[in-house]
Amino acid sequence: MKFVLMTLLLAEWLFAVSGEEVFSKKCVSCHGYYIPQSKLNRNYEQNNTDLKLTAPTLTELSFRLKDQVGDRTTDAEGQKFEIEEFLADYLKNPSKEKSVLRKETHHIFPIMPNMKGEVSEEEVEALADFMYEYAEQMMIAHGVQRHSYKEAVQIAKKEKKIILIEGFIPYCRGCIKMDREVLVEPEVKEALNKDFVLVKKNLLIEKLPLGIKRLGTPSFYFINTEGTKVLEMVQGTGTVEEFMELLKSVKKNQ
Ligand code: HEC
Repeated sequence: MKFVLMTLLLAEWLFAVSGEEVFSKKCVSCHGYYIPQSKLNRNYEQNNTDLKLTAPTLTELSFRLKDQVGDRTTDAEGQKFEIEEFLADYLKNPSKEKSVLRKETHHIFPIMPNMKGEVSEEEVEALADFMYEYAEQMMIAHGVQRHSYKEAVQIAKKEKKIILIEGFIPYCRGCIKMDREVLVEPEVKEALNKDFVLVKKNLLIEKLPLGIKRLGTPSFYFINTEGTKVLEMVQGTGTVEEFMELLKSVKKNQ
């Protein structure tokens, strides 16, 4: 009886493979977790002489896998499965031809050594889930706190802040670019935290308040402190400097 219980427990334990653990045991010796994209861009422009990375960061891998492998407009489970298949194959037979990394980084890193026999099927499945989720988690961890619209209206009134709604759809590249390269930069975060309350709305499934007609994505809708009037709305991507200009001008003209 005791023996049966033991094997049952063991089986459960074996199946509960955590992607995070596998990554920290088998991948992190080469792949670091997170470095802000602005630093990475500078590093690659200088041929990796600045950070001297041995491999792309996990955050970069996560973004590229989600962008390049399988159908990013499908549901998450479907795409995770395709990522799992890609990983299973790449870990056994890595090659330049299969690579989904940005071409500009190809000359920087040698091809990954093959890990045939070192990662089990269960571990690859767990890695795919973990790597799929990681980019989004990093954007939340390093970005500005987001609120529901209802909360934002309360905070805006109390703290005399402007409401900023970021309109996105899940597979919009420009939206990811803004989250990844602009909204995580220290000066942008500081300006947003000081004078704005951020709301993020998935425009595929969520409506904008005040009967606002949605623009394309990404789009930014500024609403006054009382939550009664649209101050400004713009669509498109921009640099940190351009976004800072936009915030300043909305603040000045509110
Ligand atoms: C000995 C160092 C090393 C280890 C260990 C390592 N990698 Fe890599 N990996 C690299 C390098 C270098 C690259 C960039 C060149 C390339 O893409 O092959 C890379 C690239 C990748 C890519 C992008 C493939 C592409 O499309 O080009 C993925 C995905 C990846 N690694 C996953 C993993 C996972 C998962 C693990 C752990 C199970 C792991 N790596 C362990 C060095 C390593």
